Amino acid sequence: MEVILTEHAGFCFGVRRAVDTVYEQIAARQENGRPIYTYGSIIHNEEVVRDLQEKGVRVLSGLEEAEKLSGEEKGTVIIRSHGVERTVCEKLKGLGFEVVDATCPFVKRIHDIVEKESGAGKTIVIVGNEGHPEVEGTRGWSDAVTFVIGSEEEAEKFTCQEGQELCIVSQTTFNYKKFQDVVEIFGEKGYNVSVVNTVCNATEVRQAEARELAARVDVMIVIGGNHSSNTRKLYEICKQECEMTYYIQTLDDLHLNLPKSVRLVGITAGASTPNNIIEEVQNYVRINF
Ligand code: F3S
Repeated sequence: MEVILTEHAGFCFGVRRAVDTVYEQIAARQENGRPIYTYGSIIHNEEVVRDLQEKGVRVLSGLEEAEKLSGEEKGTVIIRSHGVERTVCEKLKGLGFEVVDATCPFVKRIHDIVEKESGAGKTIVIVGNEGHPEVEGTRGWSDAVTFVIGSEEEAEKFTCQEGQELCIVSQTTFNYKKFQDVVEIFGEKGYNVSVVNTVCNATEVRQAEARELAARVDVMIVIGGNHSSNTRKLYEICKQECEMTYYIQTLDDLHLNLPKSVRLVGITAGASTPNNIIEEVQNYVRINF
């Protein structure tokens, strides 16, 4: 049996950068002893979050929790790659925390576009999933009316004042094809739109590679955290191409009982899956089947 791993599996540039930032802060803390927090889980991967917890890094659930911390409990807060609303950093600094911003530069670019275009009076449309932390963060950089559109149906229902200029951006991890479909609907409606494709290339590349590999293997394994939306999307894409697609978080979840006819096994992983987990799964399948 042959096992093939997609070329771009696991940590993307932005997530690696954010995780590295946390480990750098842990090393630095040994000198100054101040507590370290991440603003929400640094990535959607329970294994990594657990390791960081063991090293004393705490997850701050939000500003309310930050407000309750006493003077000596205040330390460094690391903003994860998803980014946050503009006001969050300001408030944290106001409360006496040191803020280390590990927002992915590609997300930061969206914040800058939204800030600039909303400042110029445009209505902002974010194509993405309402409630997703990145989307909420992006919304928080807008000074104008902002809509979140998650599907073609929502795009069909959308209305705004005649002549109103719209600026459309997307959540970085949104499905590129769906983004194009939504944009097309806005175009058909004759609105005055400027579109900035902010779907991250890392997502596109992963999705295309996963689709291509799933189409030619007998079994496909998708590795990633339960709450990782980009992993879930990879799973959906692979499932469409390959009936025997499995979604696992770690090797422990893998209970394969493969028919003898299986020749090719494909593996891919979401952007927040560490390399060691991918390697473990890959080695296990190679050795055991
Ligand atoms: Fe950044 Fe793209 Fe990853 S936006 S966090 S490099 S998926």
